[in-house]
Amino acid sequence: MALSDSTPPALLDQLGRGLDSLRVSVTDRCNLRCSYCMPEEDYVWLPRSSILDYEEVSRLVAVFSQLGVRRVRITGGEPLLRQDLPRLIAMLRSNPRLTDLAITTNGILLANHAAALREAGLDRVTVSLDTLDADRFRRFARRGRLDDVLEGIEAARAVGFTGTKVNTVVVRGFNDDELVALIDFGRDTNVEVRFIEYMDVGGATRWSHDDVVGRQAILEALQGTYGQIVPADSTDRAGAPADRFALPDGTVFGIISSTTQPFCSSCGRSRLTADGMWYLCLYADAGIDLKGLCRGGASDAEIATAIREAWERRADRGAEERLAQIGRGPLFAVPGLRQDPHREMHTRGG
Ligand code: GTP
Ligand code: 5AD
Ligand code: SF4
Repeated sequence: MALSDSTPPALLDQLGRGLDSLRVSVTDRCNLRCSYCMPEEDYVWLPRSSILDYEEVSRLVAVFSQLGVRRVRITGGEPLLRQDLPRLIAMLRSNPRLTDLAITTNGILLANHAAALREAGLDRVTVSLDTLDADRFRRFARRGRLDDVLEGIEAARAVGFTGTKVNTVVVRGFNDDELVALIDFGRDTNVEVRFIEYMDVGGATRWSHDDVVGRQAILEALQGTYGQIVPADSTDRAGAPADRFALPDGTVFGIISSTTQPFCSSCGRSRLTADGMWYLCLYADAGIDLKGLCRGGASDAEIATAIREAWERRADRGAEERLAQIGRGPLFAVPGLRQDPHREMHTRGG
């Protein structure tokens, strides 16, 4: 039987949300240090011996897919730092239940790997791009070169990827004067730009409410240049984080308003860290140790039972709960992050 996107979710949580999409982090390492994610000088890394190998990842993903997961997104840290990633892509591609296999990358190494990723069967690429100004990029990310990212986006097109997206986290006083330039870039390069509200999550230790540029302000700024903006039909799935909009000339872009209008009520995503911890929410305090089960000799059926039971108990709505906390600061201070690196966004998979 062909398993399509519309296959009903096998499993529902306490709020009726299906186990749908899995974000798989393959490394907690990153070759950039973006200020909204890794602002500190040094970090506590996951021990190398704890990192799942590709056979372990594929096995866990196969169990998840038996329980309803259809979409897998490979994340990091920076996933292209992991050796031989196309091998994992090919292994996952051979699982017929997965209908959407994507990656979120900072793009620095994409030009080198785009062809092999496509060859291995990757469906889609999303590239983080916060500025089009090379000096600003350097100051903000503290490493890497903007040109490499731009070449990566071009390489994705050249090797035949379609549906490429760009993620831009909008931070007041850093890049909120580039919204129009980024939209124009998206139109020129045929990628869909998504503006993301700055979130108070994980390692965003410098987060402040004043730095958030909300969806309304983004729309108003763009309307000033382009004229009327209208909601676009969502060709995307329900439960996608982005609301899509169209400019008068038909250019479509997205806004992910995780901070001012969270999408928890339709969130069927969960995340597997590179060391095999499974988190049911971006904001969850504790994860479920699937590596322990895997390496401890559990059968697929036992792992499936652990996943099913945890999902059926799931009531997380982290971003909505944060929203209710008026006047909040960052979620964690540095000592709390050092105590458990799984709290970091770069460990949890962005
Ligand atoms: P597609 O829509 O399938 O392309 O994937 P995606 O948007 O889920 O993936 P991407 O990695 O591009 O994530 C986009 C942004 O959505 C991230 O940068 C986060 O800011 C936000 N986001 C992703 N996952 C979550 C989540 O679980 N909770 C919340 N609140 N925000 C999330
Ligand atoms: N707020 C919003 N988005 C963030 N990302 C990382 N940290 C934050 C944050 N504090 C984004 C990255 C990447 C995606 C996976 O997560 O820009 O595009
Ligand atoms: Fe889903 Fe938690 Fe993110 Fe809300 S905060 S959208 S429940 S992962």
